[in-house]
Amino acid sequence: MQKPVLFSGMQPTGKLHIGNYFGALKNWVELQNSGRYQCYFFVADLHSITASFDPAEKYRQSVEVIADYIAAGISPEKSIVFIQSQIPEHSELAWVLNCITPFGELRRMTQFKDKSTTQAENINVGLFDYPVLMAADVLLYDTEVVPVGEDQLQHLELTRTIARKFNGQFTKIMQEPEPLLTEVPRLMSLSDPLKKMSKSMPEGCLFLDDEPDVIRDKVKRAVTDSDAKVLYSPSKKPGIANLMRIYRGFTNLPIKEIEKKYAGANYGVFKKELAEVIVEGLRPFQVRKKLLMKKSGEIDRIIEKGRKKAQKKATEKMDQVKVTLGIAKKPMKKTVTKSA
Ligand code: TRP
Repeated sequence: MQKPVLFSGMQPTGKLHIGNYFGALKNWVELQNSGRYQCYFFVADLHSITASFDPAEKYRQSVEVIADYIAAGISPEKSIVFIQSQIPEHSELAWVLNCITPFGELRRMTQFKDKSTTQAENINVGLFDYPVLMAADVLLYDTEVVPVGEDQLQHLELTRTIARKFNGQFTKIMQEPEPLLTEVPRLMSLSDPLKKMSKSMPEGCLFLDDEPDVIRDKVKRAVTDSDAKVLYSPSKKPGIANLMRIYRGFTNLPIKEIEKKYAGANYGVFKKELAEVIVEGLRPFQVRKKLLMKKSGEIDRIIEKGRKKAQKKATEKMDQVKVTLGIAKKPMKKTVTKSA
């Protein structure tokens, strides 16, 4: 029996931080290990070039993200791990889907509207078309489940609309995917607890690769509030609340328990212990990543293995799409079997 396909990915735009870990990677590893799905985890490098980028860095960033996936616990045996641009069918299917996607639907996308302001100097057509490429990513693998954060829900809803449109207009060969909304803890910048943790403010951001002393230093400097009690109050004490959420992320200890544990302790004590919790929490990841990067050719082998597996499925699906559209001759050999 074939397992339902689960598909997700992220853009290679620099070092991953603990927000990416708790918001995506940690869940992906649990979903993979549940054994309920055939999982695909990919690196959306074609999406990432819709923003300004450095060609000298791009491929290295993709490789680094793959290494992060593996170090976090994604298994290249259990899951299919690959780089988007290595499978040309993503772009090819995106073109086909472009031709059935109403312009007005794309114009409504809030991410496009946001980015039109935040990257006003580079509003390119790719940015506008971003959600269609995302639909192609998902539909190419007959995906049933897509774990995403809230910010991608609208894109996923559009993917479902496009799938229905295709099925209605041609033949029912597109699987309508379901979002799997993952609860993402709101991690804020250590240097400004009112802003989201982001790599653009590195002093307030805990990267997965940060050395123990860097972590200790960042936590020590973290902005907190004047009264020195370790109590959870996001509105009155956003700084300490944020640190407590990080503590919970690494220990799974409920907030109430953290309050109890540090009743009477001052910030200094709490911060010191939090730093060690983070250092220990990231250690297995960092050890695995170093080993992986040291082993000559290993990461290249993983990428090639994923590419081969993804390509097989992508070729089949794109052939099926072309036959369905009537732009390719029906194959003599029965390669297209699944007619859903
Ligand atoms: N847009 C997603 C993000 O920025 C990345 C992405 C591209 C994706 N294609 C996807 C996620 C397909 C899930 C499925 O987070």
